[in-house]
Amino acid sequence: MTIKNICCIGAGYVGGPTMAVIAKNNPNIKVTIVDINAERIAAWNDPDLNNLPIYEPGLADIVAETRGENLFFSTAIDAAIDESEMIFISVNTPTKTYGKGKGMAADLKYIELCARNIADVAKTDKIVVEKSTLPVRTAEAIKSILHNTGNAINFHILSNPEFLAEGTAVSDLLNPDRVLIGGENEDAIAQLANVYAAWVPEDKILKTNLWSSELSKLTANAFLAQRVSSINAISELCEHTEANVNEVAKAIGMDSRIGPKFLNASIGFGGSCFQKDILNLVYIAKSYNLTEVADYWEQVIIMNDHQKRRFSDRLIKTLYNTVSGKKIAMLGWAFKKDTNDTRESAAIYVADHLLNEQAELSVYDPKVSKLKMQSDLNYLNTRSESENETGLQTAHTPYEAVKEAHAIAIMTEWDEFKSYDWKAIYKEMKKPAFIFDGRNILDKKEMNAIGFEYYAIGQ
Ligand code: NAD
Ligand code: UGA
Repeated sequence: MTIKNICCIGAGYVGGPTMAVIAKNNPNIKVTIVDINAERIAAWNDPDLNNLPIYEPGLADIVAETRGENLFFSTAIDAAIDESEMIFISVNTPTKTYGKGKGMAADLKYIELCARNIADVAKTDKIVVEKSTLPVRTAEAIKSILHNTGNAINFHILSNPEFLAEGTAVSDLLNPDRVLIGGENEDAIAQLANVYAAWVPEDKILKTNLWSSELSKLTANAFLAQRVSSINAISELCEHTEANVNEVAKAIGMDSRIGPKFLNASIGFGGSCFQKDILNLVYIAKSYNLTEVADYWEQVIIMNDHQKRRFSDRLIKTLYNTVSGKKIAMLGWAFKKDTNDTRESAAIYVADHLLNEQAELSVYDPKVSKLKMQSDLNYLNTRSESENETGLQTAHTPYEAVKEAHAIAIMTEWDEFKSYDWKAIYKEMKKPAFIFDGRNILDKKEMNAIGFEYYAIGQ
């Protein structure tokens, strides 16, 4: 089998950038990304590259280079499956919101639909690649669905989890720490390794068995999230002892066994994956009756929830125990800088807590729309949509957000926040003017010199 056509089911944050980079580096392979969401596909095909559905630095350039050449976006799912030798499944795997495992297990209905779709349509042998993050042993279910079609087609299932982080997706894909391929069939593994070998050095292409590959993805996210919860736990201790969490992080990070990355104390991690993948890990451990293992990892989530709650509690307490009727400017809504993704962003939960206390919020984010902010809040179901709309106003500029505000809460570490004219901002605010820096991006001494009452995490 020679790979001439690749199909990717799911045109999301992973499918879009990953396939764009595969297409860029494999000009002889036609890559078609398909999705049931016609609006999303239309946005990927929009001639104006500013309208792509996903904002990632560098992505628009690669799409401009490859789209219409060997990269295509389409809703014709069956046709793309039919013509491809290799099919990536890159659909969402959210936490279940119903039935057994509700709130913990991964919802695999979209994965199963893809497997059934492939089974229905395929007329020739296919390599099926799990790109989505999946519970260990999911490949067994996919295999069972595909092998029971009765049409004598050979399917080889590979696990190829994605490790890109949003905001740096393109550079992560162009220069990955490793590419992980898990599988049973040597030839299928070699075919997929070949696709990556077009730009990834061979020693970075790691081959394992299926189950190690599936479990490594959940484990990597759990370890990364654990580091954030660990430094956040220490940040609370710092606030009681006059230690400074930035100094502690630097001191421990210089130990080469610990390393300096992922030690930024914050309002808590967000994003579509850390929480869902740890919950999934906890659920799997519980399903094998591994209570201590499950409890150990669950603590990472408990700490994260505590960190979000304690940020808003500290703000309310400092503003003389009430924020009712007070304007609070929130800078940032995305779960991290350089992305328009807001899934599980800490800002949503902090806003919800502050609205419960009748604060008047004015939010500015350089990449997130009013519609998105409102739908994030409405999803929590805490109050009516009209109450959310009255309570949370979206500002078009940071200066509009901070005008007459009692306090500023920095929720996302966007670079532009660092270079604002903070003296001018101070003048526009009610006094005393408070800053609660949830990302530790401003300088305490500088802010105090301007006149702000400045509170950061772990300082
Ligand atoms: P996403 O929600 O952005 O995209 C998923 C897409 O799949 C959606 O556009 C949806 O319409 C489409 N889809 C769902 N069912 C479909 C079907 N049956 N047929 C066709 N299309 C269908 O999700 P994402 O962020 O790209 O994540 C995808 C997977 O990758 C998840 O398992 C996630 O855990 C994993 N992952 C995500 C990231 C990340 O940074 N977002 C990084 C690594 C791994
Ligand atoms: C994370 C992983 O880093 C990726 O390897 C993985 O592929 C991806 O999840 C996934 O499976 O979805 P992502 O969530 O996009 O990527 O972004 P991260 O950079 O990991 O940040 C996650 C959250 O942790 C953000 O809210 C970020 O602000 C926070 N964080 C990160 C901190 O609070 N402190 C840090 O030191 C690092």
